[in-house]
Amino acid sequence: MTSFDLYNGSVPTETWNVPMAGDASFTWEYDDGRDRLLSLYQKGKDKQWDAQKRIDWDLEVDPDNVAGLPEQFNPLFGSDIWDRMTQKERDEFGRHQGSWLFSQFLHGEQGALNVSARIVQSVPDLDSKFYAATQTMDEARHVELYARFVKEKIGMAYPINQDLARLLAESLEDSRWDLPYLGMQVLIEGLALAAFGLYRDMSTNPLVKQLLAYVMQDEARHVAFGRLALKDYYAELTSRERAEREEFVVEGCYLMRDRFKGREVFEQLDMPMDECMEYVDNSDMYTLYQSLLFSRIVPCVKDVGLWGEKVQAAYLDMGVLDNAKADLEALMRQDEEIAEKVDEERYARELAVRQEEVADAITLGGAPE
Ligand SMILES: [Fe+2]
Ligand SMILES: [Fe+2]
Repeated sequence: MTSFDLYNGSVPTETWNVPMAGDASFTWEYDDGRDRLLSLYQKGKDKQWDAQKRIDWDLEVDPDNVAGLPEQFNPLFGSDIWDRMTQKERDEFGRHQGSWLFSQFLHGEQGALNVSARIVQSVPDLDSKFYAATQTMDEARHVELYARFVKEKIGMAYPINQDLARLLAESLEDSRWDLPYLGMQVLIEGLALAAFGLYRDMSTNPLVKQLLAYVMQDEARHVAFGRLALKDYYAELTSRERAEREEFVVEGCYLMRDRFKGREVFEQLDMPMDECMEYVDNSDMYTLYQSLLFSRIVPCVKDVGLWGEKVQAAYLDMGVLDNAKADLEALMRQDEEIAEKVDEERYARELAVRQEEVADAITLGGAPE
């Protein structure tokens, strides 16, 4: 079986080739690393892990409800469309939603893999090259694990969302070295991180929790890297150069805003598109979801110094400006702690299974003939 057997909708079998512009840069200064970047690089090396070993792949996942969420969390719950659906249709819808969501995570990770490799080449400083190299390895592991999850646990895949593809291409095509950073590390990763966090915290499925908590442990470093490297660089830009970056942020955020509405699923299942979109657009659940999705991007954009009027006006318009107050450092510490807690739960479960096996063996051994 190939991945193409899993796709809903048509996906071209040839590769998607995005032309790249800009230079691969070399530096002859090997001794001038910034302490915070070098310690992030050290952390990146120390915290490598193997998805084949760290995740309990034997745990079951319900493909019709991957994250194990109550039906009230469905964006169409409470609508006439939902009420008209049979249980079988709701299950089918749930499977498509799970497949769509995790497929977007998967394609986004491949984007991150390509962009971080690109950053290794184009960023001028050696400390950033070092760090981006560890991130490239992280992203390869993320692609590996989401690909396995989509294939083994859901058995159905969706093509890449077109808005995501567009932002990826725009980030890669630009010859300025910081644009792939900004597009990928801040916007795409920031949004993905928030989405991972939501499902990590809400999911009742232990495998999904493990997967997301461990990926987030790595992603927290990636966002920190983007912040450190860009903050230094943006402080030196002229106001015109900064305004160009702010425009890119505004455009990118509007593109990302509609990404999680799941339009492709409604299309694929031949559902009444206008009715579905109107319900989602006006649902309190989706409004809350959308604002949470921007919880990591907004404080990061502010922190790197792209906080001009246009950016603030766009966030106000999108209803996500309040997120500027979020404490990114605290969120990242929490990501680390949650991953460690998931590890502890995993050990406790393994220990319980082993103790049960030992108890069984003793009972068997001690049983009269
Ligand atoms: Fe990743
Ligand atoms: Fe990442």
